[in-house]
Amino acid sequence: QKALILNGPNLNLLGTRQPEVYGSTTLKMVEDLCQSHGASLGFDVSCLQSNHEGALIDAIHAAKGVHDGIVLNAGAYTHTSIALMDAIASVELPVIEVHLSNIHAREAFRHKSYISKVAVGQISGFGAQSYVLALDALSAHLKRGGV
Ligand code: DQA
Repeated sequence: QKALILNGPNLNLLGTRQPEVYGSTTLKMVEDLCQSHGASLGFDVSCLQSNHEGALIDAIHAAKGVHDGIVLNAGAYTHTSIALMDAIASVELPVIEVHLSNIHAREAFRHKSYISKVAVGQISGFGAQSYVLALDALSAHLKRGGV
């Protein structure tokens, strides 16, 4: 099975970006962790990061028929993007929403997620470990036969 790890805006700066909020783990370290943990679950993991909303939408469209599920950290687009929400709703692929920080413990504008409306579920607040938990959740979801 194939899993896509999709990261949105500013996540390329992980490690140096507000380390007090997001930790010191770099995106490369997160992606390596996803590759190794994914492999232990039997996933062939691909990783993509973009700062562009349209590129993220294109990646979601392209995942249909190629990947079995997506682990998505949409960054700030989580809170703004109806277009990303619609893209997820348009491909029949399970999406697990992840956040490094606990978005519900932060500013009110981060409490709302458009992604949650179309995701299987959300994992938020565990730093890089959020991605590991999301892969576990995706694996369990697919084993249950979920879409
Ligand atoms: C984030 C939380 C978002 O509110 C923020 O805009 C991000 C990162 C997280 O992983 O905690 O860019 O998605």
